[in-house]
Amino acid sequence: MTARLIDGKAVAAELRRGIAARVSTLPFRPGLRVVRVGEDPASGVYVRNKDKAAQEVGFDSATLHLPQATTEAELLAVVGRLNGDPAVDGILVQLPLPAHIAADRVIAAVAPEKDVDGFHPLNAGLLAAGQPRLVPCTPKGVMHLLRASGAVLAGARAVVLGRSQIVGRPMAQLLLAADCTVTVAHSRTRDLAAECRRAEILVAAVGRPEMVRGDWIADGATVIDVGINRLADGRLVGDVAFEEASAHAEAITPVPGGVGPMTIACLLENTLEAAMARRG
Ligand code: GUN
Repeated sequence: MTARLIDGKAVAAELRRGIAARVSTLPFRPGLRVVRVGEDPASGVYVRNKDKAAQEVGFDSATLHLPQATTEAELLAVVGRLNGDPAVDGILVQLPLPAHIAADRVIAAVAPEKDVDGFHPLNAGLLAAGQPRLVPCTPKGVMHLLRASGAVLAGARAVVLGRSQIVGRPMAQLLLAADCTVTVAHSRTRDLAAECRRAEILVAAVGRPEMVRGDWIADGATVIDVGINRLADGRLVGDVAFEEASAHAEAITPVPGGVGPMTIACLLENTLEAAMARRG
């Protein structure tokens, strides 16, 4: 078998077109503020891409770039000002933050109704309670890809590899809400390969290049690769050994061009949702 490709670029472009069309009918421009602290180079690229995508769909978007030496109190004051600004619908504080700032306290300071990352404990709790409001962008993007791929979710055995706050945990909640039978596997799982082999839907989010081998994939499975890992030779690879996995899977996302483009599209979707909820 050679797997069908799930084209994240195409699905994301479609989502962005739909958002731009809706924004063009609104009497206001949804406002997004992205806060970056310090000089992490990867964050610089991500933040520019988010800002550009937001401008392209017609949002009022801006980046606040604060110096590396910004204190936690100063950052909390910036967040507080954005919380109180009626023109701002969405606030995203880019992670990682410098080590002297407690990310948890900053995340908890964002007004939950403006938390377009979906990281605030209230939003995480609502998702876990089965009442999702603002949902983390990457797992939300994975759900769009699964639906676009035609995968049958209700009753399917889904395995999530990874238990991070940003991807693995919310991913498991979303699959459960879609009536999958969900297993969360992680670095301490006894036989990862055997757990993965049971999956009709496998979502890999561990950040280890090509850890998931072809013989971990059940014939006919749908494989979603959240990993983006840069090798020493400069190549970008996922958490799944793509060629090997393609020999078993029915459908698979490429890296790059799979989940990556969906994360930004879902940030735009969350910002639009937050704006509609706040402004009626
Ligand atoms: N850093 C890497 N991914 C993310 C994300 O989804 N949101 C934020 N705020 N920071 C990140």
